Amino acid sequence: MSISTIQRFTVFVSQRVRQACALLGNRLVGSRRLKGWFYPPVEIETAAEIETPAEIEAEVEIEIPAEIAPPAVIETPAEKYRQFNEDYFADLHEQERMLADEPRMAFYHDAITRHIKSGDRVIDLGTGTGILAAFASRQGASHVYAIDHSSIIEHAMQLGAENGIENVDYEGVHSTKFYLDEPVDVILHEQLGDFLFDEAMVPNVCDLRDRLLKPGGLILPSQFELFCEPMTLHDDRRVPYIWELNDVHGFDFTSMERSRPEDVDYYRMSSCDLGVVKQFLGDPTPMVEVDLHTITESTLPSLVSFTRKVTNAGLIDGLVVFMKAKVDDDLVLSSSPLDPGRAPHWGFRILRLDQCHAEIGDELDVSITVKDWADPDTWMWTCEKHTS
Ligand SMILES: C[S@@+](CC[C@H](N)C(=O)[O-])C[C@H]1O[C@@H](n2cnc3c(N)ncnc32)[C@H](O)[C@@H]1O
Repeated sequence: MSISTIQRFTVFVSQRVRQACALLGNRLVGSRRLKGWFYPPVEIETAAEIETPAEIEAEVEIEIPAEIAPPAVIETPAEKYRQFNEDYFADLHEQERMLADEPRMAFYHDAITRHIKSGDRVIDLGTGTGILAAFASRQGASHVYAIDHSSIIEHAMQLGAENGIENVDYEGVHSTKFYLDEPVDVILHEQLGDFLFDEAMVPNVCDLRDRLLKPGGLILPSQFELFCEPMTLHDDRRVPYIWELNDVHGFDFTSMERSRPEDVDYYRMSSCDLGVVKQFLGDPTPMVEVDLHTITESTLPSLVSFTRKVTNAGLIDGLVVFMKAKVDDDLVLSSSPLDPGRAPHWGFRILRLDQCHAEIGDELDVSITVKDWADPDTWMWTCEKHTS
């Protein structure tokens, strides 16, 4: 037999064997009873068919078990703030700053002693370390619901037990998810931001008021004033805009005006330092007054305009924002920078203005537009001087 005959015979036999194997394989894979035993045939993609990672990602739907799924995306500014607030007040130092604020603690202690009566049922909205709930309980409240969404509530519960505080239920819950069968006599709260409204006081208190306060019930505190006063800074504390500096030991920055920042944050300063503000240019008058018994979120104006007659001459460095809470005529909590009895842990905010000098008798037209009172980033302000 020649070599070429042997080769043709070998090729013929191996073709037949491959065909027989393929036939048998197809029968086995196609059998319904044996299906689970075999991997499906592998299809090799040509280079042109290979997808990009983005295409693959778009096609593949991976089901993630609920317990390891990432938290839902936080969307609205209100929800973002809520998350921030929950984390912020879990920090012991924040609670320390509030507890060390003597005027603040005296104000709340007096307010509770004067206005919570024996037998009252009380909600303490945002109890923190539980201090106001403890004051209410000691004042004779028959029941206090001390609620807080932050993990600080664990400490409140423990501190209450260690201090022999009775009649208090501590609940780790956001106020909007707190329910009771029977309405209460008093809503107690301290939800006051530096800009008064920036700790969501209005929506939080109104929600509880409308759902869980008895008709004629008490919100403590309920009356607030927000001020925005033209003022002069102390000479040694003034920080002019960079383009207002024309002679820093012979160096001129005035050309920087071309680079005025657009970010509204740049035009705000925050301080709680009494040495910063030298004087108000006029007589302080509230730009907004609210009573939480009657307010709704839509009651707040989106534009506030007022005129301040200058009674103290000086540079207009900016507008200073501060607030007051009033319980009685002789029981007021203030964050005014010129009030020596001010509650020191609150900051006051300075809305900066281009420097200009004002004389006694001049008039300052101030305008504040606000999209959202809870969000100081949405505030825009102007102050125009008119000389008489
Ligand atoms: C300014 S601190 C006051 C704490 C305490 N009442 C005091 O006077 O020392 C506000 C507290 O309210 C809580 N809080 C804020 N909004 C809340 C809400 N809607 N529901 C429950 N707790 C809230 C915060 O976690 C924080 O502990």
